[in-house]
Amino acid sequence: RIAWIDGAFVPLADARVSVMDRGFLFADGIYEVTAVLDGKLIDSARHLSRLQRSADALGLTFPYTSEQIEAVERELIVRNQIDQGSVYLQLTAGAAERDFLRKADTPPTLVMFTQAYDYLNSPAAEKGVAVVTMSDLRWARRDIKSVMLLAQVLAKRAAAEAGAQEAWMVEDGFVTEGASSTALIVTQAGTLVTRPYSQTVLPGCTRAAIWALAEQDGVTIEERAFTVDEALAAREAMLTSATTFVMPIVSIDGRPVADGKPGPIARRLRQLYIEAAR
Ligand code: PDD
Repeated sequence: RIAWIDGAFVPLADARVSVMDRGFLFADGIYEVTAVLDGKLIDSARHLSRLQRSADALGLTFPYTSEQIEAVERELIVRNQIDQGSVYLQLTAGAAERDFLRKADTPPTLVMFTQAYDYLNSPAAEKGVAVVTMSDLRWARRDIKSVMLLAQVLAKRAAAEAGAQEAWMVEDGFVTEGASSTALIVTQAGTLVTRPYSQTVLPGCTRAAIWALAEQDGVTIEERAFTVDEALAAREAMLTSATTFVMPIVSIDGRPVADGKPGPIARRLRQLYIEAAR
């Protein structure tokens, strides 16, 4: 596999970052994961604009234009023969003497690599996934796609130990989002509900695309926070992310959602999302 680091394509095994890198020492960095289908980037413009937004929030100067980034991403897709998968990109504040305060002249570190998946033959999408709920232990700026992911790592581990594929995080009685996905439900009245954008959640690129598709498809949509009880009483529950597209949720904390089978709106949105990307 080939990776790209600070201007050069190198074998992934030879891609090296200093132990003094601020991403390693302070989690002083941001990232993006962009899906690839049929060898093409999906929702690239949304991911690049969120990347810029995250960079601005951390005060990182982005060293390349969006066109340059996309060109590298496309080259990685070709070199690694990615038909279905993702491109991972990480920008950190670079390597310098350990000091909480950044020095203005430290060049940033930028790394990109690819991962292969099989979106089109997904047993999880066919069967649906289980989620478990837990309290949201993250910081107060979850709208920034920061590499500071310890709370998510712990949440995923707790979910796996409970036999679930995702953790839904709860704050003040309301679901914020999944550890690595946006949380959505369909009420008994048929309304697709998800939390509005704020500093409490990451503005999901897949969620933005799905929202537009649902609206075009005549689905009633509503942006508001929902509780776990509401999700348990819902007609459907689902999650969205670049690495899962739309995934039906069939159980929450071991209790079935509706009849415990993937719901029609989740299945339809997944199909529409894949069609729009191809
Ligand atoms: N995670 N919320 C959180 C906390 C996330 O980490 C992600 C994505 C999402 C969904 O965003 P998008 O639709 O733009 O992928 C929501 C990526 C996939 C990851 O960390 O691997």
